[in-house]
Amino acid sequence: MDLLIKNICCIGAGYVGGPTMAVIADKCPEIKVNVVDINKERIESWNSFDLDRLPVYEPGLDKIIERCRGRNLNFSNNIAHTIASADMIFISVNTPTKKKGLGAGQASDLKWVEASARQVAKYAKGHTIVVEKSTLPVKTAKVIQNILKTSKQNSNKNEPTFEVLSNPEFLAEGTAIKDLELPDRVLIGGENKHAIDALSSIYEKWVPKQKILHTNIWSSEMAKLTANAFLAQRISSINSISALCEKTGAEVKEVAHAIGTDSRIGKKFLSAGPGFGGSCFKKDILNLVYLYKYYGLDEAADYWSGVLKINNWQKKRIANYVIDKLNGTVSDKKITILGFSFKANTNDTRESPSIDICLDLLEEGAILSIHDPKVDENQIRLEFEERNFKNDTKWTFNSKIDENFQDSHAVIILTEWDQYSDLDWFKIEKLMLKPAWVFDTRMILNLDTIKKSNINFWRLGKIINENKLTPN
Ligand code: UDX
Ligand code: ADP
Repeated sequence: MDLLIKNICCIGAGYVGGPTMAVIADKCPEIKVNVVDINKERIESWNSFDLDRLPVYEPGLDKIIERCRGRNLNFSNNIAHTIASADMIFISVNTPTKKKGLGAGQASDLKWVEASARQVAKYAKGHTIVVEKSTLPVKTAKVIQNILKTSKQNSNKNEPTFEVLSNPEFLAEGTAIKDLELPDRVLIGGENKHAIDALSSIYEKWVPKQKILHTNIWSSEMAKLTANAFLAQRISSINSISALCEKTGAEVKEVAHAIGTDSRIGKKFLSAGPGFGGSCFKKDILNLVYLYKYYGLDEAADYWSGVLKINNWQKKRIANYVIDKLNGTVSDKKITILGFSFKANTNDTRESPSIDICLDLLEEGAILSIHDPKVDENQIRLEFEERNFKNDTKWTFNSKIDENFQDSHAVIILTEWDQYSDLDWFKIEKLMLKPAWVFDTRMILNLDTIKKSNINFWRLGKIINENKLTPN
């Protein structure tokens, strides 16, 4: 019996749910895709006429929303009704690291996943396929299955039936639409052939069949954690090499290029930088570490903890380096921060290395002038407040980039936005105090231009050039 999916519900209209459902709706016009969220403002933004107000910035997303919204893609807060009419429900809610209680600081907080499963149990009708999309610790499918099973035992007539599948999302922010439209693979974990075929048939509308992998449910969950852990590990590896390059005269960009040509290593994910951010890498490694410890595999837990340790060290050493070059003190010195999102082409700031680096400088008394093309002032305030820094007089946000350089001692490039790679340094040096410094943690500066200016510069993973130390 082939299950034909006509109605999809996605619980959670965030960075994963929003773009993923938009692409499914675009590729499958015959399927109704309804995205629900408890957050009213978020849904209002998804329904906004002004496409610049969509809650998620992703290149190409606005065009898809324009094409599909109101046709077969809808955003609403009407959770009960949407669940009841769905044949397939994606759970795509947030799963941040637990802040308190058992496993605090390591395990993922599953309360939003549980709440979603309870909503499904309460409102679903008929046979429903439940797909876990959020990044989750291994064995979460069991939690969902148990909630759905228990509810079944409680009800009597017209019992709904459920199948749970794992279908982890591998999209990266900033390239989400491309990643969804042309995925390296789609992974579906589960036991029930009909449910797996039903989900596969959706992806087959645009993904070649051989790229759709089927595994058991636990392998699928584990593969997602492992993929993120390996990617994060590559970044910590190259970041650790960047520090050694700075001491020895090697250049990390050249080293990365040289090793990347080895087909066993490959060239992707070898850009040294200020440390990885984003909602997944840290959380997933912490999940792995938690699992290892739970099973008494302490050596392996330590091994993966090392990836996070290097990431923190990289952020810290960059902040310390800036302080050192500004004569050991940044107290009352204006410093311009270019970039607050955790990578280019997203407005997401979760775990952005900019947060820790800015806070270290603020702690030392610096006055920051922050610019980002997509992040707004309020979001930056929320990130600082989350880490208990509440002094608004010590930093400003200015979306007009040029105004951030006036009387600044140093500029730090923290996000690799395109527009930061071809700034007019001759113009900027006139606005800055001397000796002026530029610290390029993303290795995007045009070296020819900056070398001709009177600005001292430092590029991550390279011996510095500092011979322009003429004070004002
Ligand atoms: C990641 C995974 O790539 C994706 O498959 C998964 O679904 C979610 O987590 P994301 O966090 O959106 O995606 O972005 P990603 O491109 O992986 O970058 C993560 C962090 O690593 C960013 O801070 C980025 O700047 C940094 N990074 C990435 C580097 O420092 N160097 C690199 O070479 C690549
Ligand atoms: P991700 O990056 O995983 O997509 P986000 O935080 O961007 O995470 O989005 C998750 C969304 O899930 C949020 O908009 C949040 O309001 C929503 N959400 C969380 N719990 C529920 C729930 N029980 N019902 C509906 N929506 C929920």
